[in-house]
Amino acid sequence: MVTQTDNLNVQATDESTTPRALVCDFRPGLEGVPAVQSSISYVDGKAGILEYRGIPIEELATRSTFLETSFLLIWGYLPTEAELAEFQHDIQFHRRLKFRIRDMMKCFPESGHPMDALQASAAALGLFYSRRALLDPSYIRAAVIRLLAKIPTMTAAFQMIRKGNDPIQPRDDLDYAANFLYMLSEREPDPLAARVFDTCLTLHAEHTINASTFSALVTASTMTDPYAVVASAVGTLAGPLHGGANEEVIEMLEAIGSVEAVEGFVDRAIAEKSRIMGFGHRVYKVKDPRATILQQLAEQLFDSLGHDRHYDIALELERVVADRLGHKGIYPNVDFYSGLVYRRLGIPTDLFTPVFAIARVSGWLAHWREQLAANRIFRPTQLYGGEHGVHYVPIDERGPVQLAP
Ligand code: SDX
Repeated sequence: MVTQTDNLNVQATDESTTPRALVCDFRPGLEGVPAVQSSISYVDGKAGILEYRGIPIEELATRSTFLETSFLLIWGYLPTEAELAEFQHDIQFHRRLKFRIRDMMKCFPESGHPMDALQASAAALGLFYSRRALLDPSYIRAAVIRLLAKIPTMTAAFQMIRKGNDPIQPRDDLDYAANFLYMLSEREPDPLAARVFDTCLTLHAEHTINASTFSALVTASTMTDPYAVVASAVGTLAGPLHGGANEEVIEMLEAIGSVEAVEGFVDRAIAEKSRIMGFGHRVYKVKDPRATILQQLAEQLFDSLGHDRHYDIALELERVVADRLGHKGIYPNVDFYSGLVYRRLGIPTDLFTPVFAIARVSGWLAHWREQLAANRIFRPTQLYGGEHGVHYVPIDERGPVQLAP
């Protein structure tokens, strides 16, 4: 009888590798294991540094725009005025959706999560543009334009459709950030709101080999189409340990309810060994530099559009967690303050992660393009812990199997 708790009988699955070397190479979650060589972005987790193509995120957040930063990430240099104008024009021209994709979204359940709607719609783009001319630069550029242009429209379209309304058509006279906020409400956003939202997109655009980017790379390495690559990454980003944390942070702050309740909440979480959403990071062991900038954006919005008492709870939570868990390198990450910004912008909570996806499409596409230039299909190995020499037992001779608890 096979039980589930047999000792791990480590065997080399690659005959040329000795078991000891294999066991030493094993890193759960590939922690600290370089999976690619890349020049797109750089993170120093101890110093709290993030650079896109060598430019500090603080400079891009204050001096660039999301589309200019996307161009930098994807093509590797800051565009000339003419190149940026052409990039912006092409994206504006491709914002609309095929009616079949809009009609498909009308069949989605209103109760469905917007990330699932986005993943399905991104994959559906492949039905219309499935040619896999991955060696053709014009195909690559067209896919970059389409995905950057249509992901916001899809996100806003599902928001309207699930409320029983027709989607709002994009407006060519509005810039990237303003147009998205417009498609959510059919009202032109306040200029400060549009600028803050654009900066949020820049902050979320890229972050080296995070889980969703790795997912994109694995999918891309099979030479499938870029729409399948993005759909794969969207599904990965949706998880609460990754991009889904921003939605969970707001729910957590609402559940805590007051500044006075913060210490009790943190001490209970620690006692129960549960994760405090928006805190901790595989790489950062100090406060995520993006969290610092997002806090500044939140304060700008509160000054202009009115305060949010949940920000006071967030500040107290940051203080108490630093006191209790700072020694473990547990500090706010990008998801901790972003939700408070989006909430003040009037974005529904369950759209926070799709907003993260809208921004991260540019990082995924940058890595997709870099992967194609020197592709090798991802196929890691394993440490085999199962049995050998087991024989088939006819069903009438089988007894009950005791599963390990
Ligand atoms: C993003 O990779 C990226 O770059 C991602 C991202 C990007 O831009 O793409 O930055 C975006 O995903 C940000 C992370 C959003 N997720 C959350 O906020 C969810 C909560 N955070 C954690 O689940 C956690 O911090 C992770 C998943 C983000 C990182 O986990 P690790 O690196 O696997 O850390 P770990 O599980 O090894 O924990 C190390 C220790 C443990 O304590 P001990 O068992 O050693 O005593 O730190 C503790 C953990 O319990 N810990 C936490 C904690 N995160 C880690 N304790 C309480 N609350 C937390 N949030």
